[in-house]
Amino acid sequence: MPTTDTLSIATQPVTTSRISELDFNNIEFGKIFSDHMLVADFKDGAWQNPEIMPYGNMSLSPATSAIHYGQAIFEGMKAYRSVDGDILLFRPYDNFRRLNISAERMCIPEIPEEIFMQGLEQLLRLDAAWVPPTPGSALYIRPFMFATDDFIGVRPSSNYRFAVFSCPVGAYYSSPVRVAIETTYVRSAEGGAGYAKAAGNYGASMLPTRKMQEKGYQQLIWTDHKEHKYIEESGTMNVMFVIDGVLVTPTVSSTILAGITRDSVLQVARDMGYTVEERRISVDEIVDAHKAGKLQEAFGTGTAATIAQIATINYNGHDMDLPAVEDREISNKVAAHLDMIKTGQAPDPYNWNYRINL
Ligand code: COI
Repeated sequence: MPTTDTLSIATQPVTTSRISELDFNNIEFGKIFSDHMLVADFKDGAWQNPEIMPYGNMSLSPATSAIHYGQAIFEGMKAYRSVDGDILLFRPYDNFRRLNISAERMCIPEIPEEIFMQGLEQLLRLDAAWVPPTPGSALYIRPFMFATDDFIGVRPSSNYRFAVFSCPVGAYYSSPVRVAIETTYVRSAEGGAGYAKAAGNYGASMLPTRKMQEKGYQQLIWTDHKEHKYIEESGTMNVMFVIDGVLVTPTVSSTILAGITRDSVLQVARDMGYTVEERRISVDEIVDAHKAGKLQEAFGTGTAATIAQIATINYNGHDMDLPAVEDREISNKVAAHLDMIKTGQAPDPYNWNYRINL
């Protein structure tokens, strides 16, 4: 029998936790899911009946419109075990806001703050044991929304589902990545949905990424859709470079996702006294900086990896090898400090952490 808790979210706890299946010292990204999930449905013009239930399969009609026409969006966020044993959710309101920006672009009704935040808090209280205590690990949280009409006419669905599940994660990449600059395919174009965390953006990136992987590069660097001349993102992440001591990254735009890790890295770097520039970066500038020995660092930023160091950048068949990761001052210092903030070991002057007292 579901019970209703103080925040009016019906909760059906598992009878037996699966946590013993997890080896906290050897966590693979995205494979083992925590015991519970949050689910709410949009019907008759309103989000209703948020419920926490055991993580499990959902039954869907073959005509479910999200499967056919892609009204599907998601977020990625993390919770950390603080040094005093509480749980610290990192910047959840930013994920909430961005989910609704994506929702607006994909014609999905916005999720109310109380369902997102209270649901998240209650879900995490229930699955607190799944937040790994191991350094470098976290609980990755995946909120998502998708169209649920069983109707294959092309129009915005009338019904939607919002759900949140989570999985303990360790490092996303085990070593620095080799990337190649993409000059055929594009991730997004002005007027498109590149700024949204829409499932289709990821679906359309699979083929170009696989082609690059066949050439020996794990990820690609996306360039602009008009000329393939300006850097946009790297794989599923924002991308940053250190050129002659200055941290540079492309300005967010309608074609670039406004990364929360991106914003956090820039803020921390500025406050550490580094010069930060958000601007257009041409591929030629990267090539010239490398030739001149001024390309000191390159890395992706995203929730899953936080900072993913780039070892090599290929452009038009030529590999540009970057300095060893241990010699990269800015990304190493910023990553370490961000980690300290997220785990409560350094002050959080930005109010990024949302504490869940256990
Ligand atoms: C992230 O960097 O957090 C991402 O968006 C990757 C995720 C799709 C696994």
